[in-house]
This record gives sequence, C-alpha cells and structure tokens, in this order.
Amino acid sequence: MASRRIWKISKAGSIDRLRLVEGDELPAPGPGEARVAVRSVGLNFADLFALQGLYSATPRGEFTPGLEFSGVIEELHELHPEAKSELRPGDRVMGAIRFGAYADRLNADTRYLRKIPAGWDFAEGAALPAQGLTAYYALRELGNLRPGQLVLIHSVAGGVGLLALEMVRKMGGLAIGTIGSPAKIPFLRESAGLDPAAIIVRDPRRFAAQLDGALQVLDRSGFDLVLDAVAGEYFQPAFDRLDAAGRLILFGSATMMTHASRPNYFTLAWRYLRRPRLDPIEMISENKSCMAFNLIWLWDKIEAMTRLYDEMLELDLAPPHVGRRFAFTDAHSALRFFQSGQSVGKVVLEIPESAQS
Ligand SMILES: NC(=O)c1ccc[n+]([C@@H]2O[C@H](COP(=O)([O-])OP(=O)(O)OC[C@H]3O[C@@H](n4cnc5c(N)ncnc54)[C@H](OP(=O)(O)O)[C@@H]3O)[C@@H](O)[C@H]2O)c1
Repeated sequence: MASRRIWKISKAGSIDRLRLVEGDELPAPGPGEARVAVRSVGLNFADLFALQGLYSATPRGEFTPGLEFSGVIEELHELHPEAKSELRPGDRVMGAIRFGAYADRLNADTRYLRKIPAGWDFAEGAALPAQGLTAYYALRELGNLRPGQLVLIHSVAGGVGLLALEMVRKMGGLAIGTIGSPAKIPFLRESAGLDPAAIIVRDPRRFAAQLDGALQVLDRSGFDLVLDAVAGEYFQPAFDRLDAAGRLILFGSATMMTHASRPNYFTLAWRYLRRPRLDPIEMISENKSCMAFNLIWLWDKIEAMTRLYDEMLELDLAPPHVGRRFAFTDAHSALRFFQSGQSVGKVVLEIPESAQS
C-alpha cells in the first residue's frame, strides 16, 4: 500500500467538481503491473469531454481523468508476459492508461509502459503515448499514408497535430495545417517549419475557398488524407476536396467544446442537429472514404495497440513540443487554459521529485 495525491470527480458533468484528494491509498501493484511515481501528466482534449460528461467511455460515478503520464518505476510486481520492454525499478517510463493518470502515484499495465527516449524530459515523455498513438493510428493504420501524398491536418498546432505533422514528414508526405487563431502562426512558421502557404486560419464563412487556395499554391487537385478532430462546418468542405481514393479520418469534434465548466446543452443540441452527414451510396461513385475511431475502445486490442506503439517509437521522433507546464496542484488552471483552444503543443501537469507524496 502506498499513499498518493489524486484528482477525483464525484460524477461527470462539471469540471468544477474535480477535487484533489490527499492520502489516497494505492494498493500494491498486481501481476503485470508496475507502481510509477508520476512526474508529469499529459492533458488530452478527451479529459475535458470526460469531465463534462460528453465522452462515451467515461466511467460511471467517481473517476480520475487522465490517459497518459510519465515517471519513475518504484515497484514492479512482475512484468506482464506480453510486455515488450525490459523494465526495472528506477527506470524512467512513459505510459498510456485508461483513465486515472491525474495522480502522483499509480499502478500501470507494463504492456503500455515504455522507457522515455534518451534526452527527453518527463513532460516530453508524458506528451507522447496517447496523442502519438492517435496520430500514428490515423496516418498509418487507417490512412495508409504513402510518400508524396498530401495530408490536411486540422488543429496542427495542438498536441496530436504537431505529432501528426512530424510523422507525415517522416513518412514522406506533405502537410497543410489548419488552426483557429492567427496567434499560432509564428510558432508554426518558426518552430515547426511550416510554409505560410501551408497554414490555414480556419474561417467558417470561406473555408472551402481557403482550401482551394492552398491546393492551388501546391498545384494539387485534392487531399489524399484529412485528419479531422474539429468536425462541425469544417468537415464537408474538406471531404469534398479529397482526391480520388482519398480518406477523411474523423476522431473528434472539438467544435462541440464550450468554454465553461459545464456543457451548454442548447448549443450542443444545435451543433448535434447540424452535424456532418454523408451518403454512403454517393461515396462509391465519388471514390472517397470516411473512417472514424476512438482509441480508447481499442484499449483491449493489446497486440495491435502495442505493435503500433512500437512502430511509432521506431520513427525516432523528436521530443514533442510542450507548450505549457502547470503544477500538479493547479489542474484547474491547466484545464481552463487547454479548453480555451489557445494552447500550442502539449499541456502538462508536473510533479517535482521533491513534491512527491
Ligand atoms: N479519437 C481518439 O482516439 C482521439 C485521441 C486523442 C485526441 N483526439 C481528438 O483530437 C483532437 C486533438 O486532441 P489534443 O488532445 O491533441 O488537443 P489539442 O489539439 O492540443 O487542443 C485542442 C484544439 O482544438 C481546437 N479547437 C477547435 N474548436 C475548439 C473549441 N470549441 N474549443 C477549444 N478548442 C477548439 C483548438 O485548436 P485550433 O483552434 O487551432 O484548431 C485546440 O487547441 C481533439 O479533438 C481530441 O478530442 C481523439
């Protein structure tokens, strides 16, 4: 048994209900588990949806949010027989978990733990497992991206977006990215090396024309792949501009997010009624596809998920860009900032070694 601090919400519905609990008792790690002293927690947009009660995979009743973390192994019961990494107490690790990462100590399935690459700090480690797997699954497994292909990446300055941008380049593709605010342009130009012509500040009134303009500059007839977690009014113009055999991969709907602690059910209902719709019969003659996924429902597909995890690590990615670091105790400020849509790169909570409970 070990003591820990952990964020808990009694019931999904309002972010304000999230409370820090001191002295929570963590049982000893079970077979195949390791106890990790968490040093950084990666925020995911899904945390916001889960806290607001808008995420279908959210546990009923009390739960702790959080899908990815990094830290140091304190105790190892035994490695899971299918674990791919040789792990020992003292190792710096990063991991994915099906809820529960907002804690300064946790028991993790060793199949989803990997050593943090040399030279990365804990925050960078916490930025990779869930968001990286999302980008990789969309691009490689569903998108089947090939060298020379053109990809539209929505929210390209975000956690998933920047990782997807790097992966597209590593796979020999070319990317155009969208953002919601011009404030993100300098970072994309100077730090992410995106050409200004490949950056679109989404305008709902002329999004179709913005896409046409970007395609014209590149002398392309359409996109081979679209990574869309924004949806809403931006879905159809991008789908219409898929090239023959193009694929739109839908994995989120950020436009459904409001900026308050609770969801605005009137706005949600309005947006839901106006959600994108496709005619599958039309798709045959148009030679276009739409695929959708939520990685959390693939959590138990261990063989496939861990294979993709390792393939992704073989890409030898640069450390993810961590845009903002908050103290573990300041999760509310971190969530409010993340919810504003202004973040660039990853938002993390940090727990210095000296502050471990
Ligand atoms: N299906 C899955 O398995 C899966 C897994 C991970 C993530 N996701 C989805 O992928 C997307 C990116 O996730 P992430 O964690 O990396 O987040 P992120 O991209 O770092 O941040 C979310 C971004 O969404 C954009 N956005 C659009 N409308 C918004 C609104 N109304 N309020 C706030 N932000 C809005 C903002 O960027 P711009 O305005 O610049 O576009 C914001 O920065 C999210 O939609 C998430 O739900 C899905």
